[in-house]
Amino acid sequence: MSAGKKILIVDDEPHNLLLLKTFLVHMGHEVAEASNGIDALKNLGADIDLVLSDVMMPGMNGFELLRRMREIPDFDDVPVIIVTTLGDKSSRLKAVQAGAMDYISKPLDPLELRVRVDAGLRMKQKSDKIRKFQSELADMVEERTLALNRALAELRESNLDMVYRLAAAAESKDPETAAHLLRMSNYCAMLAQKLGLPSDEVDIILHASPLHDIGKIAIPDAILMKPGPLDESEWQIMRTHTLHGARILDKSPNRILQVAEEIARTHHEWFDGSGYPGGLKGTGIPLLGRLSAVADVFDALTSPRPYKAPLFASEAADILREGRGTHFDPELLDLFLESFDEVLTIKQKFGDSAPHDLTFHSNQTSTDHRPG
Ligand SMILES: [Fe+2]
Repeated sequence: MSAGKKILIVDDEPHNLLLLKTFLVHMGHEVAEASNGIDALKNLGADIDLVLSDVMMPGMNGFELLRRMREIPDFDDVPVIIVTTLGDKSSRLKAVQAGAMDYISKPLDPLELRVRVDAGLRMKQKSDKIRKFQSELADMVEERTLALNRALAELRESNLDMVYRLAAAAESKDPETAAHLLRMSNYCAMLAQKLGLPSDEVDIILHASPLHDIGKIAIPDAILMKPGPLDESEWQIMRTHTLHGARILDKSPNRILQVAEEIARTHHEWFDGSGYPGGLKGTGIPLLGRLSAVADVFDALTSPRPYKAPLFASEAADILREGRGTHFDPELLDLFLESFDEVLTIKQKFGDSAPHDLTFHSNQTSTDHRPG
């Protein structure tokens, strides 16, 4: 067995310590000494590979020392060999029960001592290897977890960046402001939160809803930027922005774009079935379509346009009420109006007068819309 290990020997009899030490040093080991259990606990360190302990000692006996050591995580796998004159079966059992790996009877037999000590050191070497492996494994898991979390955060950021660039592309053709996008999406997220949707879904809705009018990118400027009211044929073209938006966003593996597709396609459906493009009715309209309709119309009514002045929030609320059950899902509308203080807070926070860009911050939302 390998020499050069550090062994703690515990005995209240100096001549016993001296004898043990002599044998162990002769075997090539370094020796630390203690005169009882208390003394031994003070001398225990990370460098101790094996403990040889007497049983009967004043202050703290060998069994108690063993028991204490097994309660200390750093030393619970340090092998302990009991060295005693107690030769009866019950004492040996007690030693094993207390956690001793072995015992040696006095008077010491040098050959027996070498065999037992070598066995103890082999056991310690194995447990050291296991402990080192566990530690390396834990480090590796922690490192990989951190790397994974970093990658997920980067992926989320790049997702959001892409979404906002898309929204900004549509924005560049649309006279409506970035502030509209922020308000509208924050209204959507507020409603989603009040409906009890999970926070990650609320977050996705917040970031997806600015894309509701992305299809306007396909609408001719002459219609999109017309300063006056649209005629019927122009409206027919304008209404296709829902289908253009759905086509642009369709079949994406990205969850934000999937949600955005549903909103783009259904935010102009009416609860009574008279909306477009699908003429869907009631709860046949996806929840996000019903929810975004309330948010979008409220913000369109309360926003200035080249062709109209903004309504006061209370006037807009009255108009929304007129559409209860026809244009809007009654329950969602009620929820929106019951939360009017929060609606006004969002309206003020993302007002048209304040500078906005489409940089995303979680907990912030929104976007625009011309009532197309
Ligand atoms: Fe729209």
